[in-house]
Amino acid sequence: MRCLVVADLHYSLPQFDWLLAAAPEFDVVILAGDALDVGSFVDFRAQILVVKKYLSLLSDITRVIVCSGNHDLDERSAEGEKIARWIGDISELGIACDGDSLTIGDISFTVCPWWDGPLVKSRIEAQLRDAAADRAQRWIWVHHAPPANSPTSWGGKRFFGDEDLVQWIAQYQPSMVISGHVHQSPFTPEGSWFDRLGATWVFNTGLQHGRPPVCIVLDFDESAAFWIAAGEAQRIDLRAPLSRPAALIEMPPPWLTSLSRIADPLFSAPISDGGVRKKRL
Ligand SMILES: [Fe+2]
Repeated sequence: MRCLVVADLHYSLPQFDWLLAAAPEFDVVILAGDALDVGSFVDFRAQILVVKKYLSLLSDITRVIVCSGNHDLDERSAEGEKIARWIGDISELGIACDGDSLTIGDISFTVCPWWDGPLVKSRIEAQLRDAAADRAQRWIWVHHAPPANSPTSWGGKRFFGDEDLVQWIAQYQPSMVISGHVHQSPFTPEGSWFDRLGATWVFNTGLQHGRPPVCIVLDFDESAAFWIAAGEAQRIDLRAPLSRPAALIEMPPPWLTSLSRIADPLFSAPISDGGVRKKRL
C-alpha cells in the first residue's frame, strides 16, 4: 500500500489540482488538516463549496482521509466549541473524516478532529480508547497538530505542538501519527519532517507555497517514508531506528518520476477539463 500525505493546503487551488493529478498513483490520499484558510479573501462558505468539489473528485479516484485543522472550523457546537461541521458532511462522499476509525488493507486509521475545548478533546480520548481495542498491528493516527517538544513541531523559536498528543502517543503507541500545522518545521535548523517517540513514527509535511505542495509518501511495501519538497526528496527506512539526516534518493521509484512530471503544469489539465484524471502511464 502506498499513501500520499499532504496537509496545510490552505485553499491553494493549484495544490488541489496537483493532488487530483497525483492521486491515481496512490491507494490512499490523506489530507491532514487546514484545507481552508481563514485569512483568504475568498468567502469561507465559497471555500467550503470548492474544496468539497475537489474532495468529491478525489474520492472518485482513490481512498481519501481528511481531518480538520484550526483553519477548517466553520461553526460552534451547541456547547460553544469551534468545530469543522463541513468536514462531517464529506462522509457522504465516502471520505473518512473526523471521528472515524477504519481499516484499509491491514492498516487501522484513526482520524482526529481539531480540538478547541474540553468536549472535543474528551471525544478524541474516547475515540482512541475505542480504536485501541480494535486496532490492527499497524495503527495510524491523522491529527493536524504534531506532538509537543518534537522537531516536527519546532517553529524556529519555540515548539507549537500538542502536549496531550504526547501523552496519548505514550499511552497507546500507535505506529504513526500524521500531522501538519507547524509549517516551518521541516525547513528550519533543528526542525524536521519526521521524528520517533518510542515505537511511534511522527510526521509533519510542512508547507511550501505554489504547485506542487510539499508531501510525504508512505510506501508500506517498501517500509519507507519519503518527503518531497521543492528541489529535494528524502527517504527514511521505517524498519530502522531514528537517524538523521534522512537519506537522499538516488534511484527514484517510478511513482516519484511520475510525480515529477505532473509537477510541471504543462503536463496536466486544469480542473475545468472534466476533473477526474486518468492514471499517467
Ligand atoms: Fe496550517
